[in-house]
Amino acid sequence: MAELSFTQEELDEIERLKDKFPTAKAATLRVLWLAQNKYGHVKDEVQNLVAEALDVPKAHVHGVARFYTQYYKEEKGKFVLDVCTCLSCQLCGGYDILHHLEDELGIQAGETTDDGMFTVNEVECLGACGYAPMLQVTNGVYVNNLTKEKVDTLLENLKNGNMPEFESKAMPELEKRNQAASE
Ligand code: FES
Repeated sequence: MAELSFTQEELDEIERLKDKFPTAKAATLRVLWLAQNKYGHVKDEVQNLVAEALDVPKAHVHGVARFYTQYYKEEKGKFVLDVCTCLSCQLCGGYDILHHLEDELGIQAGETTDDGMFTVNEVECLGACGYAPMLQVTNGVYVNNLTKEKVDTLLENLKNGNMPEFESKAMPELEKRNQAASE
């Protein structure tokens, strides 16, 4: 891996983040995030860079990075598709969605396509059980109520660089209450 470094602009941002917290250690999550956005992952070398920039022990940064699955400790595809196969999603066809993605991309869950475009993961509940089955794109947008056709459209859009829109969803109970209140 080439020599890693933060630009002066990024170092300024890190200083700004440090000022927001009582200790430099407390800014670790934010600075790891900044680093992941820059490099696409936080492998050990990147974690060391974060520790140096914060002037905190490397062991502290390694501990934080390892604890949270949202930090990628290995290189991933440009788009990471986290497919939920927990109970609600499983009952609503989560495995059909996962296997369809695996077939379409020619990889197994946990792998990355040869062109570096997609990584597919099988994950635990992402808290959108009312809109199952669902997946999350690279720690960001949720795509809900999936069908195979919706997955195909998603892949096509991502290949063309188009991220899915954020979909605002109210809980079904809340929707019912709002509807009753307006009648
Ligand atoms: S079971 Fe899939 S989001 Fe909860």
